[in-house]
Amino acid sequence: MEYRRLGSTGEKISTIGMGTWRIGSYATPGERTSQVNALKRGVELGINHIDTAEMYHSGRSEEVVGEAVKGIRKDVFIASKVAPGHLHHDDVIAACKGSLKRLDTSYVDLYMVHWPDSKVPIKETMSAMEKLVEDGLVRFIGVSNFSVAETEAARTALPKSELVSNQVEYSLEARTVEADVLPYCSKEKLTLIAYSPLARGNITNSIPEALLHKYKMTAAQAMLNWVTRSENVVAIPKATKIVHLEENAAAVSRRFTPDEYEQLSKI
Ligand SMILES: NC(=O)c1ccc[n+]([C@@H]2O[C@H](COP(=O)([O-])OP(=O)(O)OC[C@H]3O[C@@H](n4cnc5c(N)ncnc54)[C@H](OP(=O)(O)O)[C@@H]3O)[C@@H](O)[C@H]2O)c1
Repeated sequence: MEYRRLGSTGEKISTIGMGTWRIGSYATPGERTSQVNALKRGVELGINHIDTAEMYHSGRSEEVVGEAVKGIRKDVFIASKVAPGHLHHDDVIAACKGSLKRLDTSYVDLYMVHWPDSKVPIKETMSAMEKLVEDGLVRFIGVSNFSVAETEAARTALPKSELVSNQVEYSLEARTVEADVLPYCSKEKLTLIAYSPLARGNITNSIPEALLHKYKMTAAQAMLNWVTRSENVVAIPKATKIVHLEENAAAVSRRFTPDEYEQLSKI
């Protein structure tokens, strides 16, 4: 597994993480156990970054993550998010405490504002995020789905802490962030966490066969490899099937050349 610096901190997170949207929705205890086991397998493969949110299945995703990391909490980097309806100061604090309870842990490594909400002053939200850091409940602060202007406002609203990341949709199929958010994050040394990096399971068939053959890669691996071609980008594909997880974990063990990345960018 390849690891990258989180923002300009010394923290190392795996280039390929694990998303957990839809994890927590299970019909039987056996299905829940499979979800727990998939996350554990990911950690065995060197994936240390697990992404969740209080919004995912009303907290059930966090509960599954909490179960998966029992006994290995120190080996994993847990990222969670406060929901858009909870951005007033006291609501942020309460939301984080709720997440910690469901995750069965005393701290979250990265706590993000899930979506911006223009009705709540960002200063108020960020002062709560700083309080969580001061109290040792959160290690790093991030945002998600923030524009460049919103990210700048969030950074300005953090006098004592550094904003380390912005989590946004990015894949071969969803390229909007290339216009502004990606270059901004690269310049400012913020980690861009690419969500839905496999286009929600719509694996492209446009990648040239010769390229896949040359690197013995699947199309899904090529998508993850391409999306993480910049040093400051990591991706959080969601996989409940072990075979998918193993494929994803091996996606960045070799790299395309700059010309090949360019070729893929044009498809
Ligand atoms: N911040 C936000 O607003 C936001 C929004 C959306 C998502 N997210 C985060 O980003 C994570 C990932 O995004 P996503 O879940 O929307 O979509 P995704 O990761 O792009 O795609 C997930 C789908 O791809 C399939 N898959 C995984 N690995 C595969 C492989 N190697 N080959 C073929 N198919 C594969 C999965 O199947 P199986 O499960 O059957 O293996 C699943 O159906 C989420 O889980 C969540 O943590 C954040």
